[in-house]
Amino acid sequence: MKIKILTLFPQLIDSIKYSIIGRAMDNGSLIIQAVDIRQFSTNKHKKCDDVPYGGGAGMLMTVQPIYDCIQYLDPSRQSKRIFLTPTGKKFDDKMARELADNDLIILCGHYEGVDQRAIDLCIDECISIGDYILTGGELAALVVVDAVCRFCSGVLGSQQSHEQDSFANGLLEYPQYTRPQEFRGHFVPDVLLNGNHAEIKKWQLEQSLLLTSRDRPDLLKDSYED
Ligand code: ADE
Repeated sequence: MKIKILTLFPQLIDSIKYSIIGRAMDNGSLIIQAVDIRQFSTNKHKKCDDVPYGGGAGMLMTVQPIYDCIQYLDPSRQSKRIFLTPTGKKFDDKMARELADNDLIILCGHYEGVDQRAIDLCIDECISIGDYILTGGELAALVVVDAVCRFCSGVLGSQQSHEQDSFANGLLEYPQYTRPQEFRGHFVPDVLLNGNHAEIKKWQLEQSLLLTSRDRPDLLKDSYED
C-alpha cells in the first residue's frame, strides 16, 4: 500500500517510521511518504496561505500549491484522496478497513483551513478524527494512517491479529494479563490460569460485554440497530 501525506510541515510526519509501521515500511509492505506542499507553490516566496475573502480570522491555505501537488502525484486519479478536517465524516474502525483497500493521498490542513476549491477539485472524502479542533491535520493523518495500516497485509505479524481487537466484534476488548501472577497484592484472575479454553472464552466475552455496557453503551445500541 502506498500513502502520500501532503503537508506544510513534513517533519511532523516523521514519527510514523517507528515500531510496527516502521517495520512494515522496511520490509516493503508499506510505502509512506511525506510531501512538502510548499515545493509546489509558484509564489516567489513559496507562500501557501492568504487571507479569506469576506473577512474572518486567520489565514487559509491557497488552492494552487495543493492542486499542482496532487496533479503531479496522481495525474490519473488512481489514489483515494482524503482531506483531514474537523468538519469531515467521523473516522472509525469500519472506515479504516475500507481505506486499507486503496492507495491514499492525505491532505493535511493548517491555519484556519483550505480554499474550498482545493477540496472541490482534488478531494474524494473529508474525514475528522473527532469532535475537537487540532492546530493542523498532521496529527490526525498519523492517527488515520496508523489505524488503516494495521489492516494491510504484512503489517501485523501472526502474533498481532486485528481480529481480536476492540471493535472487531462490535465490543470493547476484554482485560488482559501477563507475568507476574501477583503484583502488589493484585492477582491475575484464576480463570485465566486453569487452561480451560471454553471457560476462558466465556469469561472474556462477559468482560467485553461488561466493559462495553459500562464505557461505550452506544456500541451495543448500534449493534441492535444493524
Ligand atoms: N484538523 C483539525 N482538527 C481535526 C480533526 N478533529 N480531525 C481531522 N483533522 C483535523
